Amino acid sequence: MNLIKSKKNLVLIGMMGSGKTHLGANLAKKLNYEFYDTDHLIENHTNLKISKIFNDFGEKYFRDIEQKITLDILKKRNSVISLGGGGFLNHTIRKFTRTSCITIWLKWNSSTLIERLKRNKNRPIISNMDNLEIKKLIKKRSKIYSKSDIKINCEKKEKKEIINKIINIYEKL
Ligand code: S3P
Repeated sequence: MNLIKSKKNLVLIGMMGSGKTHLGANLAKKLNYEFYDTDHLIENHTNLKISKIFNDFGEKYFRDIEQKITLDILKKRNSVISLGGGGFLNHTIRKFTRTSCITIWLKWNSSTLIERLKRNKNRPIISNMDNLEIKKLIKKRSKIYSKSDIKINCEKKEKKEIINKIINIYEKL
């Protein structure tokens, strides 16, 4: 892979279940970049699972740690960074990423996301929501996710295709 080291970091955003961690790790490997996932960093930092942080300390506590850890990691160079689904909703994080990084929204239909989320119950934000409520949340958040620099419609695409698409766009920037 031809690397131009001075490029801005790539930041993956989108709903829970959109594959930010998995695709981000593969993308970083292909670009020979570092990979960071903010949820993993939060879990390492606190030595607690995300669901435990929500349960024992509440969402505000989680969001404060999320902001601090995310802003720190965004300052690294040559990195792919996957934000938690709520990261880009935070005004300070959004402002920083929009000026200093390339933001990529991994966009899926709500029906696909709901199907994928059903397979993994470890998401406190939606644990008590029915499908209609999740759909509404996706719609509401999509307005903010759409402020990203690049939107990738992931529907019906192979993982490899999504990664190559992102790399093609990124290399032309
Ligand atoms: C959240 C998404 C999760 C995690 C936390 C809150 C959200 O990350 O940060 O449970 O508000 O959308 P993923 O998007 O990686 O699941």
